[in-house]
Amino acid sequence: MDALIDETSSGLGRVVTCVAPVNIAVVKYWGKTNEDLIIPLNDSISLTLSTEHLRARTTIKTIPQSNDITFELNGVTEKLTKRLSRAIQLCREEAVRQNTATQEVVSAGLTIISDNNFPTAAGLASSAAGFACLVCALQHLYGIQGDVSAIVRQGSGSACRSVFGGFVRWAKGHREDGNDSIARQLFPASHWPELRVLIVVVSDHKKETSSTKGMQTTVETSDLLKFRTEVVVPKRCEDMERAIEKRDFPSFAELTMRDSNQFHATCLDTYPPIFYLNSTSQEILMLCHDYNQKKGAATVAYSFDAGANAFLFTLNKSVPEICGLLQARFGVTDFKGDPVSDFCLHEEHGSSISGSKTKDVVKYVIVTKVESYSRCSNSLKVLLVSPLLKYSWTSLGR
Ligand code: DP6
Repeated sequence: MDALIDETSSGLGRVVTCVAPVNIAVVKYWGKTNEDLIIPLNDSISLTLSTEHLRARTTIKTIPQSNDITFELNGVTEKLTKRLSRAIQLCREEAVRQNTATQEVVSAGLTIISDNNFPTAAGLASSAAGFACLVCALQHLYGIQGDVSAIVRQGSGSACRSVFGGFVRWAKGHREDGNDSIARQLFPASHWPELRVLIVVVSDHKKETSSTKGMQTTVETSDLLKFRTEVVVPKRCEDMERAIEKRDFPSFAELTMRDSNQFHATCLDTYPPIFYLNSTSQEILMLCHDYNQKKGAATVAYSFDAGANAFLFTLNKSVPEICGLLQARFGVTDFKGDPVSDFCLHEEHGSSISGSKTKDVVKYVIVTKVESYSRCSNSLKVLLVSPLLKYSWTSLGR
């Protein structure tokens, strides 16, 4: 569906609101060949999560007769970073190149207001959703046509995967200008509807080492990263694509856990080392292995980004038992997101954990799934508010 823009406003004094999803990589991006253009050392594969429970939202208003750009995040006025300015600049250039907006429109001032409904910079991919959202809103403001993932990428690398719903692969590309370093959808969410994601929020503190800084030091100092990007990841991406294609959960789970572990191993191989996992993360990780062993097959998988929170993957039928396990082990009572009926924990799986309950280290769990849009592979939603106060939810791109 096309976005509704009120043409009576002549492009000035417009307001665009956009919502964008978070994505979680199951084959991780860590390291760049070009810091300015944000070109990654390796391909990565991710799942885009439902905006029902996790989303960034950005409203952009144009201010005619002004050049000022202001930016507010979660109610606090923030500095306009180099990356933010660059994303705005790239969108303006693209609009002029495509002749979709006049010079008057692209040079008008902007008020940008963003918020996330989840902790910012705590390893929940807030920058990914945030940049995807910003560029989506600018795309609509300026009427830019076509794929914007290469512009989004230059805001924050992993953000380019949030442009699409379902299962997404970001190709590193081969060109020096980065123009072929773009994301594409591998499969829509409907390809594997049983898949569920449980986000175990361990910490909502801001992480100590940003991804940008962390991966820079890893590139400079880690020997393991070279082996990972040149030898391990190319094959793992192919294996992961095949596992998703065949909906082969045990293979998907093993590849996901191995990749998360190797990413954190490269962090440890960085000099000085970087630790994103804490003791609770490690406890969750081993709980998954214990549980899988008792089940006799990989039933749950974990993945950790640059933070202590765990992303658990499982199939719909196992959600009540996994929630029961988290409740028994960590005393979690706050389950947000999709409702889970009848938590249960079979005696045989609960026996080994009942004596080792660790309380108050898990804040809450969000039960969610892969973003599904039947009509459109593009995962960005636009809520456009025209000067005449028309409201409409639309999807981009089709
Ligand atoms: C661990 O995309 O945040 O989440 O490109 O410098 O902005 P920049 O880094 P960013 O890195 C994300 C790293 C990761 C893995 C992943 O999402 O693939």
